[in-house]
Amino acid sequence: MKILIVGGGGREHAIAWKLAQSRKVDKLYCAPGNAGIAEIAECVAIKAEDVAGICSFAKENKINLTVVGPEVPLSLGIVDALAEAGSKAFGPNRKCAQLESSKAFTKGFLARHGIPTAGYKEFTDIDAMKKSVGIFGYPMVIKADGLAAGKGVVIAENEADAVKAIDEIMGEKIFGAAGDKIVVEEFLTGIEASVLCFVDGKTIVPMESAQDYKRIFDGDKGPNTGGMGTYSPSLIFDDVLEGQIRNQILVPTIRGFQKDGLDFKGVLFIGLMISEEGPKVIEFNNRFGDPETQSVLPRMKTDLLDIMNAVVEERLAEQTIEWSDRKAVCVVMASGGYPGDYEKGKLISGLEDVDEDVIVFHSGTKLVKKDDSAAEPGQAVVTDGGRVLGITALGDTHEEARKKAYQNVARISFEGAQYRKDIGLLNPK
Ligand code: AMP
Ligand code: GLY
Repeated sequence: MKILIVGGGGREHAIAWKLAQSRKVDKLYCAPGNAGIAEIAECVAIKAEDVAGICSFAKENKINLTVVGPEVPLSLGIVDALAEAGSKAFGPNRKCAQLESSKAFTKGFLARHGIPTAGYKEFTDIDAMKKSVGIFGYPMVIKADGLAAGKGVVIAENEADAVKAIDEIMGEKIFGAAGDKIVVEEFLTGIEASVLCFVDGKTIVPMESAQDYKRIFDGDKGPNTGGMGTYSPSLIFDDVLEGQIRNQILVPTIRGFQKDGLDFKGVLFIGLMISEEGPKVIEFNNRFGDPETQSVLPRMKTDLLDIMNAVVEERLAEQTIEWSDRKAVCVVMASGGYPGDYEKGKLISGLEDVDEDVIVFHSGTKLVKKDDSAAEPGQAVVTDGGRVLGITALGDTHEEARKKAYQNVARISFEGAQYRKDIGLLNPK
């Protein structure tokens, strides 16, 4: 089969890495891909958001399945457009994509179907919003309604910070139209976990759990990022918690999709807070998580293409999915300055010194021609984004995987590189 992956980050590298192992995959393309993906797939210079460009490529090249990685093309309706062009795609349609592109849409869904989540209120008027500053006390959780690359959530500790965030999001529109509406939530405490689920419209099947680290600095300090590292499985999961998640969250979610006419097919990413009162939904995303995928897929034993085809063809209930008992830890190396401004084009060295059984997933990287003064001619890998690499190690124990990941991170360097030293440690809120 000919497969096209849309996107060019660590998540797409992990999906490409896993699909490349399938005997049924004859040819793998990625649009636009990155320097790491280029080693296992043919990268084509089409942006992930270029829906028309992707549709023509899929048609012209007789692609059997297009796998959409990031949220933006999904929210633009790429799956609907591909279907109209007669091409199969893995990912939810535009209507379902609102579960990520509008936080208010998801909060309404959760409330309507009695799924545990934080109390909330929506605002579209900046003055009304400011009059309600502190409605749920502090810390105050302030979210831009729309897509903001994982950075649209501010946890304000006091009134001054809350007003500043409201001015930035709703007044200055630092996230553009995503800030036309704000959702304010109760602050939840506990330990976060991510559960990615395959959904075929009728059946929902969770993958192995993971934990993400959203803030930039150790000890969960500093602004939110797209995710600075993950591990899988979550250290706090047991049969009781899994049962609660199934009964209180997964079952009402799939029933809610059916009641609301949401024909969700693809991956539903559920961000959870495991609080003292049980699991509560923090957010839904409509795709594989980044970097969760980099620690979850290396543990999957089943052919990912079989699962994706089962989802698209609504046969998920008959599909077995097997997992390795090994533990995975993924540490993200980011550019200096991220999640704020950062420079690109820094030479990455040490990639060849990584242990053979450690996987280096590329996020923001690019291949460039070495300059003429280089000792050996050829190409070099340089930084090309905020999150640059995800280093994933597997181990028989969580501790072994963690140690191995950090040993290998230490061998890789680029100017300004930053990474958290506490990935894999529990950080209760
Ligand atoms: P979101 O993009 O909605 O997942 O939010 C990003 C991050 O902000 C989450 O992973 C949490 O760490 C934090 N967060 C979001 N909502 C809440 C909440 N209601 N209470 C506490 N922390 C939250
Ligand atoms: N790691 C969080 C996300 O993918 O949104």
